[in-house]
Amino acid sequence: MFERELLMIPGPTNVAPSVLRAMGKPPLSHTSLEFASKFKEALNSLKRVFMTEGEVFVVAGSGTLALEMAIANIVEPGDKVLNAVSGFFGQYFVDMCRVYGAVPRLLEVPYGMAVKPEQVKEALKEGGFKAVTVTHVETSTGVANPIKEIGEVVKKYSDVFYIVDTVCSLGGMEVRVDDWGIDVCVSCSQKCIGVPPGLALVAVSQKVLEYLEKRETPVGSWYGSFNNWLPVMQDPTKYFATPPVNMIYALHEALRIVLDEGLENRFKRHHVLAEVFRDAMEALNLKIVAERGYEADTVTAIYYPEGVNDNQFRNEMKNRGIVVASTLGPLKGKGFRVGHMGNVNQNDVISTISAIEATLKHLGYNINLGRGVKAANIF
Ligand SMILES: Cc1ncc(COP(=O)(O)O)c(C=O)c1O
Repeated sequence: MFERELLMIPGPTNVAPSVLRAMGKPPLSHTSLEFASKFKEALNSLKRVFMTEGEVFVVAGSGTLALEMAIANIVEPGDKVLNAVSGFFGQYFVDMCRVYGAVPRLLEVPYGMAVKPEQVKEALKEGGFKAVTVTHVETSTGVANPIKEIGEVVKKYSDVFYIVDTVCSLGGMEVRVDDWGIDVCVSCSQKCIGVPPGLALVAVSQKVLEYLEKRETPVGSWYGSFNNWLPVMQDPTKYFATPPVNMIYALHEALRIVLDEGLENRFKRHHVLAEVFRDAMEALNLKIVAERGYEADTVTAIYYPEGVNDNQFRNEMKNRGIVVASTLGPLKGKGFRVGHMGNVNQNDVISTISAIEATLKHLGYNINLGRGVKAANIF
């Protein structure tokens, strides 16, 4: 109505005006030197964000395409894959593995719990795995799985590929692709990076590129084949399929913002705002879905108090100018999710807490107005 909604959903997130302006420029020829140099700069910045010296890929598509590229390129029919599933998005890898003919072995934990490295260690003892998949931040529950520690376990198996979904963490929480031994790290544009939806972002290790040279069966996706895109990523004047020129302008500008802030500062900002938000929810006696000690700094899922209707709650929040998300899968209707990532600031978080209080009061929940805001000790 006012063109001024505050998006506090776990992506898409609020986009900086300079990124929108970059997107609004006339498209250049996708193979021109001028565009290629912008694209190359964006790829180099992205390497810094992934903390990798390996290859990075930027392809038109959403995060789901990035996940699918990982599976399509790594698995061959009959391969056994260990899928660590802690919620809705962890299951994506399982379904994709089946589509590409792999045999998934599920390591599943209940919604709200994190997958522990010891569980991965135990599961890998069965032997014969081609890959392990893990979701860093499980957006459906707000759990951050310990991908660094799981990486330590996977590293002991030199023939196993470590595939990690950082769709809801890259640029907001620490992700060290090279140090943590991640072979395929997948993400997207519309969450912590602060670009509208439309780009799949992928980092790929040397081990994967070597494997692709000698893979026995062809990769089951033409558009998603790393080998088809590699020449373009190395020299963007080359053509394989037309890159989304204006989205790459946007990425270029958004990564400039990310790196100007500095990754460490950015992680700290996300952490402080997440803690503040959780403190406020607890002060309102609301229960957080994520198990203690494994809460994500980018998104929080919260259970409704008894009797609160999901649609009513989110509509009332929207009437106050703040958009929050529903919970997913078995938690559908039982809670709501707030994304606090990307270009989020303390005003956004305080406004959200205040709107949650007012909305709950409006819906009849006995609440001490101001209690959450007071607990959000941001100073
Ligand atoms: C952890 C995670 N993985 C994968 C996806 C799928 O990404 P997309 O919706 O961009 O296809 C999402 C989307 O929210 C996500 O949160």
